Amino acid sequence: MKTVVITGSARGLGLEMAKVFRKNNLNVVISDLSEENLKKAKEELLTVEGKGEVFYQVCNVLKVTDIKRLIKVSQKMFQNIDIWINNAGVNQPERAIWELLEDEINLVLDVDLKGAIFGSKLVMKEMIKQKSGAIYNVEGYGSNDAKMLGLSIYGTSKRAITYFTEALANESAERNTGVIVGKLSPGIMITDFIKNALGNKEKINLSEKTKKVYNILGDYPDVVANFLVNGILTNQKNNAKIEWLTTRKAAWRFMTSSFNKRDFFKED
Ligand SMILES: NC(=O)c1ccc[n+]([C@@H]2O[C@H](COP(=O)([O-])OP(=O)(O)OC[C@H]3O[C@@H](n4cnc5c(N)ncnc54)[C@H](O)[C@@H]3O)[C@@H](O)[C@H]2O)c1
Repeated sequence: MKTVVITGSARGLGLEMAKVFRKNNLNVVISDLSEENLKKAKEELLTVEGKGEVFYQVCNVLKVTDIKRLIKVSQKMFQNIDIWINNAGVNQPERAIWELLEDEINLVLDVDLKGAIFGSKLVMKEMIKQKSGAIYNVEGYGSNDAKMLGLSIYGTSKRAITYFTEALANESAERNTGVIVGKLSPGIMITDFIKNALGNKEKINLSEKTKKVYNILGDYPDVVANFLVNGILTNQKNNAKIEWLTTRKAAWRFMTSSFNKRDFFKED
């Protein structure tokens, strides 16, 4: 039975991906900042039918010691780590670069970029010993070089994640490690992430224009998770990109937007 470990998976995309992996009978290790939230997430996961086991471990990706512990306890429980997903992330406050505080910039870069770099580095060594495994990093706004006021530091980290993931895939191939590395591109998801910056520390007030775009292009994370996990489970290629909101799909959504009745924000 295969094992998947996902960072930042007590809610949102991480938890929804964990549910789909469970449905596919993998052992699932969820991890996040709060034990209380992880306990609740585990209960939710156990309502999904699956033959694997569910385990949780607190892990703050800002701390290398936490990531090492997550790897160790996962190996102790299940021996091999077959799939590792660096999913933990925080959004930035909707302000221009020069209006952000030093701590705010550091947090976004440390969680979104360095968290994934250290997660990849540490698990790669273990997967090399196993001679197999797959590492996935989550792209986001900026990965494709798009720019928007209020998303520049987040975009910087996601643009770098794209480069980093491709570079890691390249090194893995050069060294013939047997480990595959890939990117997950989830598009726009209606999660707490789009409404809160810095991990719930600051509210983001979405403009009506932004809400309109999100209603056209956005999806709930369970829909996206289903697509991404099916892609992960069938992918055998190194340097793959598993992309939910392709340019074609986005164009189609805009073309048919007059028929779109979705309103994700009616309760706000
Ligand atoms: N929501 C979107 O529209 C969107 C779009 C593209 C990419 N993404 C990316 O998808 C991933 C998941 O986002 P989501 O929408 O599910 O967000 P979310 O806020 O619902 O979930 C993120 C999780 O990461 C955890 N986290 C934050 N800091 C952490 C830390 N230091 N250590 C460990 N865990 C930490 C949070 O506690 C939370 O459970 C992120 O990498 C995000 O950048 C999101």
